[in-house]
Amino acid sequence: MTVYSSRDIRNLFLAFFRNRGHEVLPSASLIPQDPTLLLTIAGMVPFKPIFLGQVKPSFRRVCTVQKCVRVSDLEKVGYTPRHHTFFEMLGNFSFGDYFKKEACQWAWEFLTEELCLPVERLSVSVHEKDEEAFRIWRDIVGLPEEKIVFLGDEDNFWASGPVGPCGYCSEIYYDTGKERGCGKETCRPGCDCDRFLEVWNLVFMEFDRQSDGTLRELPSKNIDTGMGLERISAVVQKVESNFETDLFLPLIRSLEGLSGVPYEKEKPVFRLVADHSRAVAFLIADGVYPANEGRGYVLRRLIRRAHRFGKRIGLVKPFLHELAFRVVELMGDVYPELRRNETTIAQVVFQEEKRFEDTLALGFARLEELLEEARAKNARTISGREIFKLYDTYGLPLDFTQEVLREEGFSFSQEEFEEEMERQRTRARKAQEERFSGLKGQKREEELFSGFRSTFVGYDRLSAESVLLALSDGNELIPEASQGAEVLFVLDVTPFYAEKGGQEWDTGWFVTPSGTVEVLQVSGPSAALSVHRGIVREGRVKVGERGKALVNEKRRRGLETHHTVTHLLHRALREVLGEQVKQAGSFVGEESLRFDFTHFAPLSDEELEAVERRVNEKIAEDLPVYVSFSSLEEAQKRGVVALFGEKYEFPVRIVRVGDYTAELCGGTHLRRTSEALAFVILSESSIGAGIRRIEAVAGWRALEMLRASRKVLQGVRGLLNVEEAHLLRTLEELLEENRNLRKFLARERKERILRELQERLEKMPQGSLLFAHLFEDGLDLELLREVADVLRGALSRGAIALGTAEGEKVKGIIAGVGLGGGTNLGAFLREVSRTIGGGGGGKPHFAQFGGIPRSRWGEFLKYLEEFLKAHEAGHGP
Ligand code: ALA
Repeated sequence: MTVYSSRDIRNLFLAFFRNRGHEVLPSASLIPQDPTLLLTIAGMVPFKPIFLGQVKPSFRRVCTVQKCVRVSDLEKVGYTPRHHTFFEMLGNFSFGDYFKKEACQWAWEFLTEELCLPVERLSVSVHEKDEEAFRIWRDIVGLPEEKIVFLGDEDNFWASGPVGPCGYCSEIYYDTGKERGCGKETCRPGCDCDRFLEVWNLVFMEFDRQSDGTLRELPSKNIDTGMGLERISAVVQKVESNFETDLFLPLIRSLEGLSGVPYEKEKPVFRLVADHSRAVAFLIADGVYPANEGRGYVLRRLIRRAHRFGKRIGLVKPFLHELAFRVVELMGDVYPELRRNETTIAQVVFQEEKRFEDTLALGFARLEELLEEARAKNARTISGREIFKLYDTYGLPLDFTQEVLREEGFSFSQEEFEEEMERQRTRARKAQEERFSGLKGQKREEELFSGFRSTFVGYDRLSAESVLLALSDGNELIPEASQGAEVLFVLDVTPFYAEKGGQEWDTGWFVTPSGTVEVLQVSGPSAALSVHRGIVREGRVKVGERGKALVNEKRRRGLETHHTVTHLLHRALREVLGEQVKQAGSFVGEESLRFDFTHFAPLSDEELEAVERRVNEKIAEDLPVYVSFSSLEEAQKRGVVALFGEKYEFPVRIVRVGDYTAELCGGTHLRRTSEALAFVILSESSIGAGIRRIEAVAGWRALEMLRASRKVLQGVRGLLNVEEAHLLRTLEELLEENRNLRKFLARERKERILRELQERLEKMPQGSLLFAHLFEDGLDLELLREVADVLRGALSRGAIALGTAEGEKVKGIIAGVGLGGGTNLGAFLREVSRTIGGGGGGKPHFAQFGGIPRSRWGEFLKYLEEFLKAHEAGHGP
């Protein structure tokens, strides 16, 4: 048997199938096109649409070496000789071309004639219902019957997922020798032990599994095969585990160099780290970034796991980036995307490890302490209360803790955890109700803490080991404080950002061995003093105690997002509106930002759009944020933006975003602009002469906002049942239609009212002087006047009184017709209002009234009739 390198095996494989009419295609990305899959898990993934008949293939025979990542057996990686996250799959494919016979023949030929594996070590399995495959192996390839085993669905039916292409498969096994096996009588291919290695899986893809589980025939019969390069290399190179092949050994050697620990001593750690470093490098090269969900989360977990395991061999500083770098060196010529993204890979890994250090190190150390304590007591469970504290106070993600516990063989009481969570909610609610007073209106902080100094270390750390230097109740210094007390305090070093430069303060916790203070506000009366305000939530804290200062990471992240984006916005405004634009004020919050600037006119829609787009472009460009220091003069010479009227410390701190902006700034910022995700302007308004204000959101808040507006939009779309593109036009049309309908209805109503009243008017007894009507349904006076105007024509003498009820009151008009000279309706109204309430006035022959009690409408009319009669009498014929 020749000993080929893994590189040889790749080449031999591709050449073998190229010679049999296959097109050699490059590996597809680890990020699949297929939305049902998180990652590319097999060589067939890029070809799913072809198998399903949705896409016509350009070639009927194809072969590839495909990059794959599987995380289904993540817990096993490192502990077994053959589990991996990242691996390479050698595969040949037929799209409706050759089928079982050629697939079996060629696989056999490749293994026995190209790789020269000894025939006597090989055997195969077929599906128990697949007589055809059995006969091919026996009659055409020529295997003796005892070398062919029948197995069930579990071993010999392959599917890429719950739905989609699938089929029976046949596997080829390599016998590593009796001594490696379990020794049982029944040991044969398919056995769980390590003796029979399945090296090649030949899938006869002929079905499409439906969501209800039924199998539908695919348009054509296809072949999909997969052979793990790591495994076949181990076989060919005659080594015990995949990790001892030339694919992993160089990584393991590097790791030995970094740690000074021999592989033999900590095999699982070396294997796991070597495995993860490959996955991490390849994922980043394909554009995956650490995140809290999806692929980004897979990446984050892998980096954290590797880092965590690294600690066991004494690697406490970030180290994984060095291994990832080694992966690029080793495989960069086969996968050029590694080379192209070399620096990104190293940077992303480094930053993520660093971040892990900064935010989780303390929590992780505490977790290890807890495990140690439990071990000492021979216990296997950790209190749910402690786990909650790790989560709530130390910010250790629960799934991370769970993973560690699982791996170390521990558990915790979920119930206790939930109880704590509930208790915390109640506390939060109560705290909200009680409202933190902030100890305002007390003695000035400088006075209170005169002589104390603190150092801010929070630019690149979110936690610190600090000493409680001074404590106060707001009036005087106190030696200690206990649960429930509101306090002000000073730490020797603090990671908490004090409110300044428009950026709000950090919140978080200060935990000492005897108590916990929740930090709710931080102010910095001077650069050398940060004053924390908070409430003692547990136990007591004492001056002189050492404790852990922990910043709430989520809030900090929100603040940093809005701060970095504020710099981008400032620059973008100057680009779009002109360099005369000056910052006039700024607020950087966790959930939003406000930016005030000088400008003479409201921004047009186009200008706002341009500014918003510009900022988003810069976010997408993933610019790095750098910090440097210089003298103020030097900075100004180089055109760094400084704000007039601000006082700057020496040396000044300059925050640059790529080479897009440079500002003097003391705030905390993102590492790269892409972390800001997205930027949305919410409003633009004037807040004074020549000063405009933009309110905006970025980061998750922006995405939530967009999602919320999209939901509204979808709602409207659903109601109107039109495409989004036609939405505005349809709405305009609807509004227009609505206006017309209203007009039409008003006209109709007026006409109906007139018709009815005219009919009644005609039937009015001869000599009647008053025609009156009370409308029940709140009409407007304008309409009453119009109606009265028309009716007037039908009355020779007297008056028309029209009222309309509004709740318990009546308003309306009186129009006189042919009344004598002395008549004055306005005077009548004034007169009558004295008796029955309400009021009114107007001209002699036309008056308007209101506020007359409904119950006295009849009475009102009687007075009016009498009044008319009196005047008619007075001016009789
Ligand atoms: N798609 C088959 C597998 O992954 C070859 O095993």
